[in-house]
Amino acid sequence: MEHRNRFWRLNSHPLGNDFASALSLEEGPVPRAADGQVVIAGEYLSLDAGTRMWMSARTDGYQPPLPLGSQMVGLVLGRITESRHSSFPVGKLVRAFGQWADYSCVEPVASGLMIVDDTVSDAREHLGSLGLNAWTALIGLTEVAKTRPGETVLVSAAAGSTGMLAVQIAKIMGCRVIGIAGGAAKCAFLSNELAVDEAIDYKAPNLESRLAAIPGGIEVYFDNVGGPLLDTVLPYMAHYGRVAISGLISGYSTDDPVPLKRFDQVLMRRLTISGVFTPDYVSRAEYYDRVLRRWFDQGRLRMHFDMTTGLGRMLEAYGKLFTGGNLGKVLLAIDRDA
Ligand SMILES: NC(=O)c1ccc[n+]([C@@H]2O[C@H](COP(=O)([O-])OP(=O)(O)OC[C@H]3O[C@@H](n4cnc5c(N)ncnc54)[C@H](OP(=O)(O)O)[C@@H]3O)[C@@H](O)[C@H]2O)c1
Repeated sequence: MEHRNRFWRLNSHPLGNDFASALSLEEGPVPRAADGQVVIAGEYLSLDAGTRMWMSARTDGYQPPLPLGSQMVGLVLGRITESRHSSFPVGKLVRAFGQWADYSCVEPVASGLMIVDDTVSDAREHLGSLGLNAWTALIGLTEVAKTRPGETVLVSAAAGSTGMLAVQIAKIMGCRVIGIAGGAAKCAFLSNELAVDEAIDYKAPNLESRLAAIPGGIEVYFDNVGGPLLDTVLPYMAHYGRVAISGLISGYSTDDPVPLKRFDQVLMRRLTISGVFTPDYVSRAEYYDRVLRRWFDQGRLRMHFDMTTGLGRMLEAYGKLFTGGNLGKVLLAIDRDA
């Protein structure tokens, strides 16, 4: 049987969360590897909030916008089916920034291609507890926020992928951990399944009084959200507190993000606010992998997967990130040749 390759093409810059008007599912031949490249038959696609910025026209981001007409780019886990690179043989299980497609064609360095451990019983963990969101959580808490044992750490979007890993790592580090998430069900998951010390529903009317009641204030804020929530948190930071900006998801779907009104608190409380950008730390990849793997093997790090099956359902799965429809890591299982 001749294989075909379905892929999602970015046709225009999406307005808000209207992805259906901006992307289309197309079909073509399976890509062939040029010299130095490999082709991966995707098993799972990782849906990541930060990729929303690549769909926009903005040129001042940390990565240039994806040219219109391109295949949408995303992190893929799958097996190599064709290789023209001696370090990456056919059959290996790999992770790379490939395409939202049945088959991804990648160049190893540009795509961050990595052979991953085939013996991990649930391969999805290479996009979960052992994945790049775990690097972000670890880097944000340790290298950027310089978190110390015993400190009070607040994490926003705590029931999402990056947040779930940040709360668990902060607990492992011996911190008092407070998770913020939207809705009672997510807060119950954080308390009952991830053993956070406190879970705060930012959609409930008592958000500000809950923040005000945190004893000693917030020493570290691992922020995935930015915007109005960051504004609300700033006055409840402890003096000399640190804010690690992991992401600004509240502003990704708009060209006109809400400015901070309480920025004066940076001076009043002598705060440090720093951005986290995982690729800056790639030279320490082996160390992060070793640390995360140890915690994973000890059963101290886990991920809840929010699964959707079928490449045709990509936009439904992707949209969850921006409406809070997900619990944990959003993954798409690819239904090749279905
Ligand atoms: N800097 C880096 O290197 C790096 C790397 C990876 C990820 N990140 C960042 O990490 C963040 C999370 O990404 P992810 O892929 O792991 O997604 P995720 O947390 O699994 O999903 C996104 C979550 O964000 C919350 N959210 C969406 N809009 C919101 C709003 N307006 N206000 C408050 N919460 C909102 C939703 O949860 P609720 O139901 O709680 O609202 C949603 O579940 C993003 O900001 C991303 O850019 C950064």
